[in-house]
Amino acid sequence: ANSKKKSMMNYWTYFAKGIEYTLIITVVSVFFGFVLGTLFALMRLSRSKFVHGLAVSYIEFVRGTPLMVQVMFVYFGVGAVIQSLPALVAGIIAVSLNSAAYVAEVIRSGIESIPSGQTEASRSLGMSQKETYRYIIIPQALKNIWPALGNEFVTLIKESSIVSIIGVTDLMYQMQLVQSATYKGVIPIFITMVIYFLMTFGLSKVLGYFEGKMKHA
Ligand code: ARG
Repeated sequence: ANSKKKSMMNYWTYFAKGIEYTLIITVVSVFFGFVLGTLFALMRLSRSKFVHGLAVSYIEFVRGTPLMVQVMFVYFGVGAVIQSLPALVAGIIAVSLNSAAYVAEVIRSGIESIPSGQTEASRSLGMSQKETYRYIIIPQALKNIWPALGNEFVTLIKESSIVSIIGVTDLMYQMQLVQSATYKGVIPIFITMVIYFLMTFGLSKVLGYFEGKMKHA
């Protein structure tokens, strides 16, 4: 038992590198997913039929196709146009574009959850459409949006594992390297599973802490 533990300990740098890449992909994708998601949400709420249709098409298409296919499409498709697109960049692009579709729906439902009476009252008090959004709708909507965005963060820690198929050296990929190097099938999987859990559980705790603070603010 002791020798097994020791042999896995020899590979801790493999796992460390995997954790680093998983966190990089997740953090960067959450950021771009939020920026693009906000854009798509506003487009979907637009009065222009064309802009609205564009956003709906994007959101439905992305949510209706597997992330695995999207990752491969970006890596091999865009990679065929732009020579030598690094797998890490392709992975981040794919996960960000995927996340944007889900985040757009989170933001849209957050905005739509604010009763129309809020808009009517604000407009009748003389606020412009822009001011109404800025000072009345968005601050209230954020209370509903924030926790859902936290969930998206947790989701991406897990879902980003799919980028291992294009060779990004994330935790899932590194797990396979350790399997090959040690000829051990199950233990690396178990260790990887525990690491993923510690990351998602830890993040949930941190997010829950801030959520609690916001409630009492
Ligand atoms: N397994 C899902 C799929 O392949 C991933 C969805 C990603 N979810 C997200 N909230 N970004 O479609």
